[in-house]
Parts: sequence; C-alpha cells; structure tokens
Amino acid sequence: MSTTVNLEPTIFIIFGGTGDLNQRKLAPALYNLFLDGYMPEQYCIIGTGRTPLTDDQFREKLKEGINNFSRTGKVKDAKWADFSQHIFYQASDVKDAETYKQFGKKIEEKNKEWKTVANVIYYLAVAPNFFPIIASNISKAKLAEDTKKTRIVIEKPFGHDLQTSKDLNQLLSGIFNECQIYRIDHYLGKETVQNIMAFRFANSILEPLWNRNYIEHVQISVTEQLGVEDRGGYYDGAGAMRDMIQNHLLQLLCLVAMESPVSFSADEVRNRKVDVLHAMRKFTGEDVRNSAVRGQYGPGWMQGKQVPGYREEQEVDTQSNTETFAAIKFFVDNWRWQGVPFYLRTGKRMHQSSSVITIQFKDVPHLVFPPEAAESWQQNRLIISIQPEMSVRLQVQAKRPGLDMVLNNVDMVFDYKGTYTNQAPEAYETLLLDTMLGDQTLFMRGDQVEAAWELIMPILNAWESKKSLNFPNYSADSWGPEIAEALIARDGYHWFTLPVNGKK
Ligand code: BG6
Repeated sequence: MSTTVNLEPTIFIIFGGTGDLNQRKLAPALYNLFLDGYMPEQYCIIGTGRTPLTDDQFREKLKEGINNFSRTGKVKDAKWADFSQHIFYQASDVKDAETYKQFGKKIEEKNKEWKTVANVIYYLAVAPNFFPIIASNISKAKLAEDTKKTRIVIEKPFGHDLQTSKDLNQLLSGIFNECQIYRIDHYLGKETVQNIMAFRFANSILEPLWNRNYIEHVQISVTEQLGVEDRGGYYDGAGAMRDMIQNHLLQLLCLVAMESPVSFSADEVRNRKVDVLHAMRKFTGEDVRNSAVRGQYGPGWMQGKQVPGYREEQEVDTQSNTETFAAIKFFVDNWRWQGVPFYLRTGKRMHQSSSVITIQFKDVPHLVFPPEAAESWQQNRLIISIQPEMSVRLQVQAKRPGLDMVLNNVDMVFDYKGTYTNQAPEAYETLLLDTMLGDQTLFMRGDQVEAAWELIMPILNAWESKKSLNFPNYSADSWGPEIAEALIARDGYHWFTLPVNGKK
C-alpha cells in the first residue's frame, strides 16, 4: 500500500518455485511490477523445488505462466530478456541442511556483486506441512538473523484450527520477529478492497450514518462459479469455512466494521481490525443451529456444460461431509454495531461469480408519498462491488420524470472502468511490492489470525461432530441451499445479487 517507493536491493527465494502459485500469480506479479518500474535496480528471483531444472528451463516455465495468466498479456521480448536475467533456479530438498547452505552462498555472492546487504524475502508457496521445516532450517542456517533485512511470506491456510495456528505462530515467533512475518490474505491486496478504507475514512459524509442508528444490516457475499477444480485434496480437508470465511470474508467484515485508525500505519490499522474480531459475538451450540448453515454442491450444468458434484471431484471422499457453501449471521457487540446483523455467504459452483458488500440502511421514519407513488420504493443501499464489477453504487429514490409523482430506485455509481483508464494492479503485485517495502498494513498479524479462528471454532466443531444428512443440498448453477434463504428470510430480508454488468 505504498505511497512513495524507495526500493532496496532484494533477493526473493521462492519455495515451491515450480508450483502453480508461482506460475499463475507470483511470476506474473513480479513481471508486471518490473514493467511498471516497481522492481529495485538490483534484484534476483531464485526459485526452488524438487524437480531438477536449469535456469533456462525454469525461466521458460515462468514465461509460460506469465503468457497465460498476466493481466498485461504475453511477455514483450525485449522486456522479458531483461527481466529473465534476474531469475535463477536451485533444485533442492527443503529438509536438507545443504539446501540452506547453498542459499547462504547465493546471498553472499549477490551481496558482494551488488556491494550491499540486500533484503532477502523467503516466500513459502508450499503446502502448509512444509512451513515448520523450512522456517526451522532457515533459522538453523542463520539466514534470518538480520531482522531488518529478512522477511518470510506465508500463504494461507495459516493453521487448520485455533490450536494449529497458535502452534505455527509460536514456532515462527521463536525464529522471526513479528515485523518479519508476512501472512498473506490476497483479498487485502485487491484494489476494491483497499478502497473500502479510502471510501470510509477519506469522506466525511459517511461516518455519521455508519452505525446502528442508520444501518439495518450488512451482507458480504463472495460466490464463485468454479468448483474445487484440481484442489480436491486440499479442499476436502478445509471446506468453505476454513478456505474463505476464516480469512477473506472476515477481513472484509473487519474493514466495514472497524473504527477509524489514528494513522495509516500497519499496527494502527491492524489494531482496529482485531478490535472488531474481539467484539464479535461468540457462538454457542444453540447459536450454530440458528445462525450458521452449510451446503455442498451436487452435479449439474454450468454454462451449457455438465459438471460433477463435489463428491465426484478428484481426490474428494465419495461420502465427504465437507461444506462447499457456508452462510453465517454474525453480530459485532459494540456501541457502533449492537443489534446489526452481518450476513456472510460464500460458495462454489454458484450461479454467479461475484464478491459484493451491501449495506442496507434503515427505512425512512415517515413516508410522505401516497402508496401508488411508492410501489417500487426501497430502502437506501450502498453496494461495494469487489469483483468482477469494480464499483461503489448508492441506491437512492428519485422522482421518475413525468406528470405524476412516482418514486424510482436509481443508482449513483462510481465505476472504476468509467473513471480510470489505467488497469488496476493484481492483488499479488500490491502485496509483493509491500513485502519489498516492509509495509505490513495489508498482511495478517498473528493475533488477528488467532482471533478469527477462535470465532469460527464453535461452528467448525458443531459441524464436524454432527454430519450433514442431506449433502449434496444444492445443485450447480444455483444460489446455494434453500436453508441459506431461510436464514436471512427469518429476519425479513433476502440475499441481494448484483445484476450482471450492473445492468437491470
Ligand atoms: C482462495 C481460496 O484463497 O481464494 C480459493 O483458496 C478461492 O478456494 C479463491 O477460489 C478466491 O479468490 P479470488 O481472488 O478468485 O476471489
């Protein structure tokens, strides 16, 4: 989240270098940072993995990833020739001490060549069971002694539950200072998500309304058309609560509900977010029954193609009890939000892919218009659309032009596409740049992760102890199970969906 850029020489060591994340996200992000002039003058990217590859073979692999997944399209030859010179590969076994000696040598070589002490960023793009062994070996090889110059980036999932996340935090804090640990939640790097803070705290008109006196309820909905694809092995042990709610959706909730930080510094912002998690009402067994629903997708058709049910996906247990959909009603017990429900919903194989936050304001205290004027009248809504549409729309009532007084619902829209010509950076570009800059604002602090786990543990425990008897309970290309509608309908509301392309 930089405002000024002063980049020091940097060495990236990417564990899981030959993996999917590097090909799809990290390499394209680093390349785009390079294109936009956001890489330091002196840098190198060392990928490491078990597969033996030459530097050139590794470069080709990353080039293929960039060509397929970069927002800027295929690489430009001259630019690639320059960028790729900075890429190297080292085949390695992460369990072997020798691996880390080799890294140590490479780091020394670069420091000599550059006549400096470079920043070193260890990026763990590997399965979570490797986090402890890699972190411990980095420590044993004394490669993280300089707390100002070395950083470790950890991908989610950060733990499998409260206890394992505490264990991982404890292990890491024995090796690194908190200021060296960058726990990624890629939602925080999204342009539209960063804009929530700008929108809330750089405008004075919202604050007087942003509380229980004017807001009736909040919805945070992140739905995906995709199924679990080739990630069944991981997903079947996780489910929607661990995969999405514990991190992405609760972070969105924190951004909506947090108090204003006194400054934009990493800890001030993260303190205010963790306050929200602490204020959230804890569930008991009874609440789980009333406030949390789960679903699992069955087979069906998506955009004219037949798709398998979750239990038929690769590496998924044919009797799996894992939820691919979750909808939860939360409360934030503090002065600002007392009594305002926050409905969160996420699911795979849903009718639409869209991430939307809707703030529904309260009714007008007295309607002065005759009923026939207000047939299509609705309460004001603020809709923050994160993806694929990137917009903020305020829905208000206006008079429809004509001789009669008829109220009409109209949108006041801030739309990224119509307002800006430049393409928004990908979340990983922002997050990698911030890692280089040493700015942790958009990264999860250890206590935030634990507070989020603490909150969802009663739901996970209740669901694990009592298997769902009606899975699969929603079909592909639907809006999830009917019980999710019932959850919100009981309070007199319904889930809002944004018309595709913002059109009615
Ligand atoms: C990841 C989850 O963290 O986020 C995936 O593991 C999910 O299951 C993805 O599909 C969604 O991210 P995005 O950026 O596509 O909304």
